[in-house]
Amino acid sequence: MGDLFDASAKHYDRISAMMSFGTDKSYRRRVLREAGLAPGMRMLDVACGTGMIASPARDIVGPSGQVIGLDPSAGMLGEALHRGRVDIAAQGLAEHLPFPDDTFDFLTMGFALRHVADLRTTFDEYRRVLKPGGKALVLEITRPDSPLSYHLFKFHLKTVVPWVTRLTTFSRPAQSLMDYHWDTVAYCVPAATILETLKQTGFAAVDRRVQVGIFNEYSAVK
Ligand SMILES: C[S@@+](CC[C@H](N)C(=O)[O-])C[C@H]1O[C@@H](n2cnc3c(N)ncnc32)[C@H](O)[C@@H]1O
Repeated sequence: MGDLFDASAKHYDRISAMMSFGTDKSYRRRVLREAGLAPGMRMLDVACGTGMIASPARDIVGPSGQVIGLDPSAGMLGEALHRGRVDIAAQGLAEHLPFPDDTFDFLTMGFALRHVADLRTTFDEYRRVLKPGGKALVLEITRPDSPLSYHLFKFHLKTVVPWVTRLTTFSRPAQSLMDYHWDTVAYCVPAATILETLKQTGFAAVDRRVQVGIFNEYSAVK
C-alpha cells in the first residue's frame, strides 16, 4: 500500500474533504483543542500523511511549540513539508519510532491505526516517546452499528468515493487506494481491543469518545 499512498499524496486532501463532506479540517482542529493540545507543546503526529492533523496542531502550539510529522510515505511527507504543515518530517513506522524516550507532550495518530502491523508494539512506542503526563490521541473510524447506517456508509466509502476520486483526480492509484479504504475500515481492530491494549501498555485515563457512531477518539495519558 506504500506505493499507493505515495502516488495519491497530491490528491489526498481533496479525497479527504469529499469523504467527510467537507468536515475533515474543522473536526481535526476541534478534537485537538478538546483533547488539551496547548501553546508551547511539542507534538508528534504519527502517520501524518499530508499533515491534515499537523496543520491545525501547528496553529495551536504556536511559535514556542513544535510539530513533528512521521510517515513511511515519502510522497505524503513531501506534501506535508511543501505545505508548511510540519516543523520536521521524519520517515518511519509507528511500530518503531526514531525518537528518544520522554520526548513529546502530545502524540496523535489519525485514521491509520488500521495500517499498523502490531497494536501492542505501537502503543509501547507511543508510551516510550511521551513525557510523563503526556497524552496520546488516536482518531479512527469504525463501522456504524445500525444496519441502515452501515449500508449507507459502505455504499459511500466502497462505491461513491472511489468513483468520484477517479473522476476528479484522473488517478488510477488514488482510485485503488479508495477501493481498499472500505476493507481497511471494515476489518479494523474492534474498539474494545484498542482500549484494552492501551491499558495493558500501562497508559492511564484511557478513554473513548464516539461521534456520529463512526468517528472514534481514543485518548490515554502516560
Ligand atoms: C489515511 S492516511 C491518514 C493521514 C493523516 N493522519 C490524516 O489525518 O489525514 C494514512 C497514513 O498512514 C500512513 N501509514 C501506513 N502505515 C503506517 C505505519 N505502519 N506507521 C505509520 N504510518 C503509516 C500512510 O503512509 C498514510 O500517510
